[in-house]
Amino acid sequence: MSVQHGREWPWVSCKAMDRVNDLMRQGHLFEFDRGPVVTELEQAMSSYFQVPFVVATSSGTSALHSAFIALNIAPGDEVIVPTYTFHATATPLFLCGATPVLCDSEAETGNIDAVDIEARITERTRAIVVTHMWGHPAEMHAIMTVARNRGLPVVEDAAHAVGSWYHGRRTGSLADIGIVSLGGAKMVTGGMGGALLTSNREYYERAVVLGHSHERSRRSNLREPYHALAECGFGANYRISVLAAAICIEQFKDVEQRIALKTENFHTISRILDSAGIFRTPACRPNTTRGGWYGYKAFFLPENAHEVSLDRLIAALKAEGLKVSKPTTRPLHSSQAFCGSAIQLAQYDSVSHLRRQFRSGDFPVARRLYKTVIGFTDSYFHEECPEILEMYAAAIKKVMKNLDRLRDSRP
Ligand SMILES: Cc1ncc(COP(=O)(O)O)c(C=O)c1O
Repeated sequence: MSVQHGREWPWVSCKAMDRVNDLMRQGHLFEFDRGPVVTELEQAMSSYFQVPFVVATSSGTSALHSAFIALNIAPGDEVIVPTYTFHATATPLFLCGATPVLCDSEAETGNIDAVDIEARITERTRAIVVTHMWGHPAEMHAIMTVARNRGLPVVEDAAHAVGSWYHGRRTGSLADIGIVSLGGAKMVTGGMGGALLTSNREYYERAVVLGHSHERSRRSNLREPYHALAECGFGANYRISVLAAAICIEQFKDVEQRIALKTENFHTISRILDSAGIFRTPACRPNTTRGGWYGYKAFFLPENAHEVSLDRLIAALKAEGLKVSKPTTRPLHSSQAFCGSAIQLAQYDSVSHLRRQFRSGDFPVARRLYKTVIGFTDSYFHEECPEILEMYAAAIKKVMKNLDRLRDSRP
């Protein structure tokens, strides 16, 4: 059987195409200044996230680097980051010569664990970074309490979590600095893009000077000493493409409807998987939502699976035409950049001592999450798709009916 999937996110609406066409006809391909398109995007985001300062950037990764520069992270500093996240949450710290101190996750959501954060704080710790994994908000009340008690700023990596709510506020606006990605297949995407969000004017000014030299810096009403640095900046060009910004402006206009549709589709998938009895499906804690989700991740319950392995199960679901896979994002402690000894780039020599071999007992929760996670490609669930959902239900039912036969088959 083959499931007929529909069109794949991202697609560009007619309105966004018209907008991009107009810009191209006008030759309006860049805004060295804080021009009308970037200003409109930043204002739309400022009102969406309810934060006064927004800097649109070329990517979520450059927004993270901007956040670390904004916080004055320097060589020798330690910054606590989750081990279970996309690498870009932590890798810009290498550019700062700082040490990413990896931290375990909580089992229910996969988010960084506030208790483990506290245990890893030393006198060299300068900041804490939190990722809202797959759109579920991290436990910000507990994390902010630890951070405030120790005088540490917090950066939210909300790359997955555009549109998520946490106790009446949007993720990205809950800490000292938030970042989002506006790239790839994110809920709001111009193909490439990102943004830094903050209520702190000093952080904003430092981020602008880092990646937006010349006119943008001059006209961002920067105070000294940053105004004097406007011409040369701090050495990066992190401007968003004007065409990407235009697409994002249009996508912010209907993001709530799109989130509602995606959420409904994923709730249907959860009901289907719940009835199978071998998965823990993604729930939401009270007073939280998953906003744009960014992938649908369930967790395999081997104890209910009659000795059928997750690999076999994935192979069987794939054979039925389902788009499922083992997610490629591994915990950072198993990635070469964080634990390898070979350094190939001279500029990273200063951070070679940061790499360490982790023991098999380290990060037990993140290890288990990664071992049991199964990802459903979410790109096909951005619009109404009752037929696809029915086919998913039928395929999962069929695989479950034949579970015993899978035990002895090849993966
Ligand atoms: C958690 C997380 N942080 C940061 C990023 C980096 O964003 P970008 O790809 O826009 O640089 C991503 C990208 O997927 C991400 O998943």
